[in-house]
Amino acid sequence: MDLNFTVNGETWALDVAPADVLLDVLREKAAVKSPKIGCERGDCGSCTIIMDGRTVRSCLVLAVEADGHEITTVEGLSFDGLSRLQGLFLSNNSFQCGFCAPGIVLAATELLERKPNPSRHDVQEALAGNLCRCTGYEPIIEAVLAAGAGGDQ
Ligand code: FES
Ligand code: FES
Repeated sequence: MDLNFTVNGETWALDVAPADVLLDVLREKAAVKSPKIGCERGDCGSCTIIMDGRTVRSCLVLAVEADGHEITTVEGLSFDGLSRLQGLFLSNNSFQCGFCAPGIVLAATELLERKPNPSRHDVQEALAGNLCRCTGYEPIIEAVLAAGAGGDQ
């Protein structure tokens, strides 16, 4: 089946099988590796991407469902250097192993676009579907709150 979509501003025309999962197609055919293969059943958030402005778990989406849509991954946030939010994650030592980082960066980016000055509760709610086994979440939440308090990302 034909799949025509945009990934980080680049247009792709791919041939995919009806049962192909978007996460696998992105990693194997569309040159992005930041969405991580974790639970593959919607529980961990490591495969999070932004599709048409909203976060989705790419392990739960068939590749053909992305036809005609616009996808952003972490690679697409960094064309002009790190975003302000990414810089705050770095300076706050928000991550350890980093496996959860791409999904959390995208979930937080989407939150800040929707709600530029989120409350702690907003941040906790937005990141509730993204599991991190290393940090206890506090340095992640603090960075997102700092990004919000500082204005644009
Ligand atoms: S790999 Fe998609 S939610 Fe875990
Ligand atoms: S930093 Fe290791 S899972 Fe989050």
